[in-house]
Amino acid sequence: MDSSIIRVSREAYPAEVRSPEIHNLVQIMSDMATIKIDGKKISTRSGENLLAVAKQNNIFIPSLCYHRKLTPTGACRLCVVKIKDQRGFIAACTVSVSDGMEITAFDAELEEARRYLLDYLLSEHNEASDKSYDDEFKSLVARYGLDDPAKRQFPSLWKSLGYPLDDSSPVLTYDASKCVKCFRCIKACDEVQGKKVLSFTKRGITSYIIGGFGVWGESECDGCGECIQLCPTGAIVEKPNREVLKTATADSDVISTCPYCGVGCQIELKVKENRIVRVNGAEGLKPNDGRLCIKGRFGYAYVGSPDRLTRPLIKRNGQFVETDWDEALDLVAAKFNAIKKKYGNDALAGYASAKCTNEDNYIFQKFIRTAFGTNNLDYCTRLCHASTVTAMLRALGDGAGSNSIEDYETADCILVIGNNMIETHPVTATFVKRAVVNGAKLIIIDPKWTLLVKFADVWLQPRLGTDVALLNGLIRIIISENLIDEDFIIHRIQGGLQAFENLKKLASNYPLEKVAEITGVAPEKLLAAARFYATANRALIATGMGISQQVTGTDSVFSLINMCLITGNIGKIGSGLNPPRGQNNVQGASDVGCSPLIYPGYIPVTNDENRQKVAAIWNFPFEALSAKTGLTTVEIMQAAHAGKIKGMYIMGENPVLTDPNQNHTQEALERMAFLVVQDIFPTETTAYADVILPGVSFAEKNGTFVNSDRRVSRVRKAVDPPGCARQDWEVIWEIAQRMGYPMKPYRDESDIFDEIAAVAPMMAGITYDRIEREGLQWPCPTKDHPGTGTLFLDKFNTPSGRAVLHPVDYVAQTEKTNAAYPFLLNTGRILYQYHTSTMSRRNKALTDFANQSYLLMHPEDAARLGLKKDVRVKIVSRQGEIDTRLRPSDEVLPGELFMPFHYGESPVNKLTRDELDPHSRIAPFKLTACRVEKLTP
Ligand code: SF4
Ligand code: SF4
Ligand code: FES
Repeated sequence: MDSSIIRVSREAYPAEVRSPEIHNLVQIMSDMATIKIDGKKISTRSGENLLAVAKQNNIFIPSLCYHRKLTPTGACRLCVVKIKDQRGFIAACTVSVSDGMEITAFDAELEEARRYLLDYLLSEHNEASDKSYDDEFKSLVARYGLDDPAKRQFPSLWKSLGYPLDDSSPVLTYDASKCVKCFRCIKACDEVQGKKVLSFTKRGITSYIIGGFGVWGESECDGCGECIQLCPTGAIVEKPNREVLKTATADSDVISTCPYCGVGCQIELKVKENRIVRVNGAEGLKPNDGRLCIKGRFGYAYVGSPDRLTRPLIKRNGQFVETDWDEALDLVAAKFNAIKKKYGNDALAGYASAKCTNEDNYIFQKFIRTAFGTNNLDYCTRLCHASTVTAMLRALGDGAGSNSIEDYETADCILVIGNNMIETHPVTATFVKRAVVNGAKLIIIDPKWTLLVKFADVWLQPRLGTDVALLNGLIRIIISENLIDEDFIIHRIQGGLQAFENLKKLASNYPLEKVAEITGVAPEKLLAAARFYATANRALIATGMGISQQVTGTDSVFSLINMCLITGNIGKIGSGLNPPRGQNNVQGASDVGCSPLIYPGYIPVTNDENRQKVAAIWNFPFEALSAKTGLTTVEIMQAAHAGKIKGMYIMGENPVLTDPNQNHTQEALERMAFLVVQDIFPTETTAYADVILPGVSFAEKNGTFVNSDRRVSRVRKAVDPPGCARQDWEVIWEIAQRMGYPMKPYRDESDIFDEIAAVAPMMAGITYDRIEREGLQWPCPTKDHPGTGTLFLDKFNTPSGRAVLHPVDYVAQTEKTNAAYPFLLNTGRILYQYHTSTMSRRNKALTDFANQSYLLMHPEDAARLGLKKDVRVKIVSRQGEIDTRLRPSDEVLPGELFMPFHYGESPVNKLTRDELDPHSRIAPFKLTACRVEKLTP
């Protein structure tokens, strides 16, 4: 067995949160050890941390500076023990267990030493507490009777030491007078989050922590709050709600799943008087093991926003007026039925929601297929990863990520392509950064600089739209240097060496110089990237919308898969291809069938056998389930524009901002005879609705989300919905009844999930009971199946069981620059905002960091056009124009621009095109020709 397989620090990343396969390998490889602690015999693994082993066996040796996620520091010395045949007191947190060890953890001498050390620490510590945080130090002080000042021998010195208080961060406060210099915050920031923002200043007793070069608010701190979560004394505390939350008096602690990106972090919601007042990362649970980003930790205020929709609204004479549920639902049912009768089923359509639960989405697709009787059903995945999923389905038989998020940490090469991961999937990025620390090679392919470039071994910066040429170039290098995996090609690729020969022939047309000319990437960088990737034992790819949101998106992903396959970097533990999903439940909404092409479980709508099975479960006539594939997201708007779609039901989506070519989308919505939007806030899209129905946020519902590594995790109700907002699935169910389709009554969300499991084979083994504590990764076909961390270990899910190569040639983009439109615009996301920012912008913690649209332009271009930082500029494309502020930046190449898409006042999709990728029907959000004009201020 390859002994280099385990390079993860066991202490920093404990066994219970590794992926199942890696975990098994660790176990097989580890020698067992038997030790004794205070006479108690304990079996464990050699090399485990002594302090942790004691704790796992209910022996609680006092400690302060140790945390299981961090490397041991040995700073506080509270964990001192005696070890037979070793001299003196030894800090247990610095000891690796070995067979036969005999440890004394508690005797009078050790306890006295601990009391002395605590007493000493107390002298420089400000004990005042507002009780808004858990205070590990205070608990120890009480345990040793030192809460009584009369029992202390050292005077209190902290007041005379002049410790500062740093209140400059928007989200946290650091009070040096409460800091015991345990290093946990520094290591939390460095080792867990990989950010290295914190350090010490001054020396000895006067030393304290600083952010950056002195002031937290001016440092690179991005507000993830890991340091808050791991601080044991309350020296670092969050700002929001401290006056409200006294930790002992929270009404409830609810474990749920983050409502933002597709990492699916497990969170602990603290609730007081029906308000969420704090969010912590849930320690020990996959995939995040307590880590969060700023959105997950501080982005919850929107739930209690006064802007929430609380009553149904009907548009009368151009104005929305409040009504009751009965009137609203009756109207909706009658209007949809009338359209159906007059124009046919296919004149209706629906957008499901990547923000809603699987249960909501499952009922939604069931409603569209039964009550509407059409497959005109889609959602935002068409706009982000449709091309990735299309290519992966055709080449590999499965469109989901092949690995577990935590596998990034054990990879020895990671290729991140078109994915600004630190901003879009911040917690996944922490695993990537840890891999780099472990020695992994990191390759970034991105036309725009991203924060992850700082950690990269090589950054390829291709011109926009040239990915296929670049990837074919890498394939040619790999083949010409004989870095292929011939055995894999023969046994796991359909057509074996013959299929490979076809790819080889195509790739021979991409010599270094030609690829360098097309892409602008230097030959030596191409060579380095190809060699790093192809020679790795465990190479992971993270793709992103940078390559998927193109009219050539599917071709780009085909090329990427080709490279992955010929090097055998898939179908084995720790290797594979992963498209991290943008929103919290993009994966789940597809899994439960919100697609014009597939039923729950990825079975084509055209599959009679499946429709028969589903019809029986739904108690619905088989013949009435449409076998005709429906229209996709952009096609639905195009059909509405052409007068073919007359009525639409949009749940939790905001197409006015997310769909390409905004003017066209707005015209399409205006032409719609009847539009229903169900959401939690008024949005740019609700303005076009005839009826607005108030749904509920993630914190007000039970259900499940599926994250980017196929993990089905629980979502739990923590607070009551505002006003008369109702559960999303219940609203849909009510409309179904009123339209004359009596959908079966459901007891609760778990009842819905049981039906999902009956319909979708890959979730057949999952129940709410099984995921009560922690999620399960599909495929999980039976009730005793442990879930699947890595896909394709034995076979691919194609009909032949083998992967399929799809050689594709580079074709120049149809969108061209010219004198009138000399720039190419790229669009994307930022850390502090989310999607169309309806949720994120209602959190002061997030808007304090970033709340303004901007345009990045290379400084040379800015100078040539006489444009200075912060001037207002107009951006004009062939589709429309918007304005924003300019930021000269060499993050983009000359001739290219970048703009975040979150902001309604500068709607980037007014500029983008609705030309579609022929395979996946995705639109080219990443490439729009435009010009930039200066506006007078
Ligand atoms: S909030 Fe996060 S980034 Fe900022 S100092 Fe703490 S750990 Fe580091
Ligand atoms: S990384 Fe994603 S899932 Fe995790 S806390 Fe941040 S937004 Fe939430
Ligand atoms: S916990 Fe071991 S030295 Fe601090």
